[in-house]
Amino acid sequence: MPWSKERLESVIRDQFGVAKLVVVANREPYIHVTTDGEIRCLRPASGLTTALNPVMQACGGVWVAHGSGDADRLVVDDRNRVAVPPEMPSYTLRRVWLTKEEEQGYYYGAANEALWPLCHIAYTRPHFRASDWDKYRDVNFRFAEAVLDEVGQDPAIVFVQDYHFALLPRMLKNARPDLVVAQFWHIPWPNREAFRVCPWQAEILDGLLGNDLLSFHIQYHCNNFLETVDRAIEARVDTERFSVTYGGRTTSVQPHPISIDPEQVQGCLPHDLAAAERRMRRHLRLRDEALLVGVDRIDYTKGIPERLHAVDRLLTLHPEWRGKIAFVQVGAPSRVHIPAYRQLNDELQALVDDINWRHGDGLWSPIHFLNEHHSPEDIFLLDRMAAVGVVSSLHDGMNLVAKEFVASRSDERGVLVLSRFTGAARELDGALLFNPFAIDEFAETLHTALSMPLPEQERRMQLMRQRVQEHNVYRWAGALLTEIARLAELKRTAGEAA
Ligand code: G6P
Repeated sequence: MPWSKERLESVIRDQFGVAKLVVVANREPYIHVTTDGEIRCLRPASGLTTALNPVMQACGGVWVAHGSGDADRLVVDDRNRVAVPPEMPSYTLRRVWLTKEEEQGYYYGAANEALWPLCHIAYTRPHFRASDWDKYRDVNFRFAEAVLDEVGQDPAIVFVQDYHFALLPRMLKNARPDLVVAQFWHIPWPNREAFRVCPWQAEILDGLLGNDLLSFHIQYHCNNFLETVDRAIEARVDTERFSVTYGGRTTSVQPHPISIDPEQVQGCLPHDLAAAERRMRRHLRLRDEALLVGVDRIDYTKGIPERLHAVDRLLTLHPEWRGKIAFVQVGAPSRVHIPAYRQLNDELQALVDDINWRHGDGLWSPIHFLNEHHSPEDIFLLDRMAAVGVVSSLHDGMNLVAKEFVASRSDERGVLVLSRFTGAARELDGALLFNPFAIDEFAETLHTALSMPLPEQERRMQLMRQRVQEHNVYRWAGALLTEIARLAELKRTAGEAA
C-alpha cells in the first residue's frame, strides 16, 4: 500500500496511543504579517516547513516555533497558540517570542553564521562568537520550557528539527528522562576534520546525544557524525548497529531521506494550465523562449552565481540558443541581516545586469531574476512551464526543490539538471548530474538538457516521478515515527526488566 496522509494517520494512532506529538522547529509553517493595515498569513520559503506541514496535518499535535511575523502576536491565545492551517485547522502552532538580541545571537549568529557554514562545505567561513553561543544556549532553554509546558505530565514524543536546536534534546532529557526525543538534522554533517574547528563541539555532541534517535538524510552524513563523535568525546560508537552509547544512554543514528507530498504540488497547479502559462509569460515579458527555471532562497550554498555563469557560458559556447531561451530565477530573500547574504544579493544583481547587457539585444534578455517571495502556486506553475529545472547547490542535505519540479511534471516532460552534491542526486536517477564548481561542464549539461529528445525526457521523468510518488513525505515520517515508537517500546521493556 503506498504511503498517504491516511496511512500515516493510522500508524500514529496505532503506535503512539495516548502519547502527544510535539514538533520543534525554529521556522513556523505559517507567518502572520501586516500589509496595508491587514493581517495576512504567509507560508515561508523553507524545505523543512514544506515537508513537515503535511505531516503535522496528518498527525495532529503541536508545532513549537519562533513567532517571527509582525502580526504573530495578534492572532494567538493567552498560551501563545493558534490553530493552523488557517483554512482548515488540524494542529496547533505554539509561538515562542525572542528579543532582537536573542534572535541576533541564536538565529543569525550561532545557527546561521557558525553552524550553517560549518556543515555546508561551500567555502564560506564560519564565525564562532562566544556571545552568540550564550544566546543559542538561552534560546534552546526557552524552547525546552515551552515544550515541557505543552507536554505537562503526559507521555510525549518530541521531534526536534535541525541545527537550531543542538542543545535542546539534552535539556529535555534532563528535565523528563521518560520523554522520547528524536531529532532530524536537515543539513549535511561534515567530515570530522571540518567539524574540528568548532569550539563548541563537545557541548553540541553532548546535546545531540540526548536524543533517542538522531537522523540525517543519507548514510554518508550518519557516518560523518559517528566518526566525529568517535574522535571528539569519550563515547562508545557501534558502527554495526549505527549507535552511540554515552553517559549510560544509547542514541541510534539512522538515515531517512526527506521528501514532499507530490499530490499537494499537483493540487496547486491551475485547471487551465495553458491560460495560466500565457498570463505568466505576459507578466514576465517572455515570448515563446524555452525556459530554464531555478527556485531558491538566496543562499550561498545554492550555487546561484555559478548558475548565472553557466548560462553566460552556454550562450558563448552555443550561440544558437540566443533569443531562444530564457533563464528564470526565483530568489526568495533570506537571512538578509547577515553580511554574506547581503553581499550575495549585490553580486547577483550585478551579474544579472552584466549578462543581460552582454547577451541581450534590447528585445530579448537571457536572465529574469525575480528577487522576491513567491507563492507555491506560482512556483509550481513555473516548474511546469520549464524545459529545464536547474538545481546547482554547492552542498545540500537533500533539496526538495528538485523533487517539487518532478512532482509538477504530470506531462512527463522537462529535464532536471541536478548538482551531484545534493542528497537528492542519490535518489533521482533520471536527472542529469553535474559538478556546479565546473562551469564548462555545467554549461554543456544545460545544452544537453535543452537538446534532449522527448522520448528520453519522458523515460527519465517517469523514473523520477515513480521514485517521488513512492518515497513521499508520508513514507519518510511513517518510517521515522515507527522507529521512534520501536525505540520507545525497547526502552520501556528494558526499564521494566531492570
Ligand atoms: C534550510 C534549513 C531549515 C530552514 C530553511 C529556511 O532548509 O534546513 O531549517 O527553515 O533553510 O531558512 P530560514 O533561516 O529562513 O528558516
